[in-house]
Amino acid sequence: MTSSSTAHPSAAPPARDDRARVNRLRDTIEDNLTTALPAADSTALAPKLIDAMRYSTLAGGKRLRPLLCAATAVAAGGTAEQAIPAGLALEYMHTYSLIHDDLPAMDDDSLRRGKPTCHIVYGEADAILAGDALQALAFETLTNQSCAAATRIKMLKVLSYASGWVGMVGGQSLDLELTGTASVTQAQLERLHAAKTGALLQASTELGALAAEPAEATTVSLCRDIGAKLGLAFQVIDDVLDISQSTETLGKDAGSDAEQGKTTFVDLLGMAGAQDYAHALHETAHQLMRNLPGDTSLLAAVAWDLVFRDH
Ligand code: IPE
Ligand code: IPE
Ligand code: MG
Ligand code: MG
Ligand code: MG
Repeated sequence: MTSSSTAHPSAAPPARDDRARVNRLRDTIEDNLTTALPAADSTALAPKLIDAMRYSTLAGGKRLRPLLCAATAVAAGGTAEQAIPAGLALEYMHTYSLIHDDLPAMDDDSLRRGKPTCHIVYGEADAILAGDALQALAFETLTNQSCAAATRIKMLKVLSYASGWVGMVGGQSLDLELTGTASVTQAQLERLHAAKTGALLQASTELGALAAEPAEATTVSLCRDIGAKLGLAFQVIDDVLDISQSTETLGKDAGSDAEQGKTTFVDLLGMAGAQDYAHALHETAHQLMRNLPGDTSLLAAVAWDLVFRDH
């Protein structure tokens, strides 16, 4: 037994009660998404755009970002309910990133969340616009967060950084830049992953902590660190699953990375090495959780699902 595992038990599969709590929270998030998204009624300005926004958002994602956000709020000493607006904002931002990621100019994929991609159903122009509108809706939704105005501004800043040129969009650009490059190093790949996927997952834990106001600055920064570890672990597993799972299980095109000449963690570390790396990052995140002031069992369960998943 290592000294850290003597101090704190290692990560373990969620207990039945915690699994039920995650499922209930996911249902709440799903209900909130369904009612909060605009509806294409007879007065709608652009019904096709609204249909496209609803189609991609309600297509059945795992909702890991809102789950992580709400579970972190609990671990930071608040409630899951406090973090629902922030969670919805993250899911809109994430869905926009997926719609654009699948476009012919990017990964050119035809299946997402088990359904034809947005541009296949609605055409490229409306898919681009649906992504644009979801991005704007994400920021609008975050302004509804009920907390002190100064905290809300902080939260808007966190989401802006995570989704923009130093975060997700910057990472997507670097991803395209390095596609087809023969000698990508582990440092380059980590930088890329941390931005394109890690930033929004890190924002999920940070926004959860901020939503649980008044959280101590040290709690917020600890939550950010936990999100960074989990975010990197998440994308390493995404690379693993792209090779190890079928299109049917994934609900998106398997083998997409190799087909496009993307360097992945499996290329650099091998299949077992990449899995070990993700599990080590998860374990570090789990140990960090022990220093949080609230109940961490929900957060530990969501973190487990983020790493030990089949799609
Ligand atoms: C997939 O994210 C895209 C990446 C950031 C790697 P998820 O695996 O969270 O996708 P959904 O939301 O469950 O569809
Ligand atoms: C995309 O990464 C991450 C974002 C959408 C920002 P990938 O291209 O690896 O995601 P998948 O595998 O298509 O879901
Ligand atoms: Mg991509
Ligand atoms: Mg892709
Ligand atoms: Mg992928």
